Amino acid sequence: MAAIPVSELKKRRDRLMSMMAPGAIALIPGASEKRRNRDIAYPFRQDSDFFYLTGFCEPDSLLVLVPGRAQGQEILFCRDRDARGELYDGERLGPDRASQALSVDDAFPYNDVEEIVPGLLEGRDRIYINLGDYPNFDQQLLGWVANIRARESGGAQPPGEFVELKHLLHELRLKKSAKELGLMRRAAAITCEAHIQAMQTCEPGMIEGRLEAELTYVFMKHGARSPAYPSIVGSGENACVLHYVENVAQIQDGDLVLIDAGCEFEYYASDITRTFPANGHYSESQRVLYDIVLAANLAAIDACYPGSNFNDPHEAAVVVMVDGLLELGILSGDRDHIVTSESYRQFIPHKTSHWLGIDVHDVGDYRFEDSWRELEPGMVMTIEPGIYIPRIEANNHVPKKFQGIGIRVEDDVLITKDGCEVLTSDVPKDADEIEAVMAGVGG
Ligand code: GLY
Ligand code: MN
Ligand code: MN
Repeated sequence: MAAIPVSELKKRRDRLMSMMAPGAIALIPGASEKRRNRDIAYPFRQDSDFFYLTGFCEPDSLLVLVPGRAQGQEILFCRDRDARGELYDGERLGPDRASQALSVDDAFPYNDVEEIVPGLLEGRDRIYINLGDYPNFDQQLLGWVANIRARESGGAQPPGEFVELKHLLHELRLKKSAKELGLMRRAAAITCEAHIQAMQTCEPGMIEGRLEAELTYVFMKHGARSPAYPSIVGSGENACVLHYVENVAQIQDGDLVLIDAGCEFEYYASDITRTFPANGHYSESQRVLYDIVLAANLAAIDACYPGSNFNDPHEAAVVVMVDGLLELGILSGDRDHIVTSESYRQFIPHKTSHWLGIDVHDVGDYRFEDSWRELEPGMVMTIEPGIYIPRIEANNHVPKKFQGIGIRVEDDVLITKDGCEVLTSDVPKDADEIEAVMAGVGG
């Protein structure tokens, strides 16, 4: 069962229903198991929206919210008990126990969806659903609505409108509760320990996957069942591949190693990147570039406070990195022109932030119409500036000593009433401190 109390889960559903238009219905399907091969499934992970509203982690579930319905507003469909299935896959909650355990008004076997949901849709004006998430379910739903329409002349009332549920639900998910923040702090703490362990284990000659194993070990040792996304362990030029996950290369003496990894703890993600020297000492050129990225990370964190907008940290980071690259002669020309034309993207190809929560790239709007949205207390975002100089023809003009280097420094930041709290400060990012931790001092 989820670490979020049932009372909070219920409050989330109440809040969502209070945001829905009168006469509406919301459908939130859970995830299904995905076949890997033969009769083996990929590890199951519940749909994030469904999880947010129920904390229920079994496949083949559906939550239906019908605000104002006298016979019950919250209806859950879940797998029936089944002795044979439970012999293989473990105990199922089953509908008989679900309504009390999850504090919903009613629960039915998932197999009854066809029979029951069309009756719930009839007479409702508006259907809230995230279309496209589950195309098979969408088809089923369209079929039910078409059936009601076909009976319109006999007095049936089909829903007239489909509305994206995410506009309501994802706003709720964006602002984290105290309980959620507790889980995110834990996810961050476990991930900090894992990064330190990887730094202290690293030796030239190891395969990158050896460090991935350390990360996974620390995650799982502390009860995180999996990473929040495939761990990136990129040594040398592999650090320039933004989502490098092969992790099969041998780490060379003199390489930097970029690790971007975070655990998922009780369904909440963390997301940290550190870039450290394989042999424990940054070379002079590595250190110069590293300090630019670190300064950008710090400048971006300084721009994280209520009232600042989502893009302000990115703009602060870009200016620091462009100035640094100009000073090293890696970029040339007019600073303001480089910034406004975004020609820096040759070396700074990605943005600095994304929301963080149940999903690593969490939900919630980044913009309202033409403007970036304001940061508010309770939002959690990453700060992850990076500079990448792969050995490609376009970079021939860059001094050789800077080629083949990729550096990113990523933290998770909570916006607070007075500013922000860095959730990931337990893993060092100052170059001297990283060297000290790798030498076994502190950490
Ligand atoms: N690990 C994916 C990201 O940093 O966005
Ligand atoms: Mn990351
Ligand atoms: Mn990230």
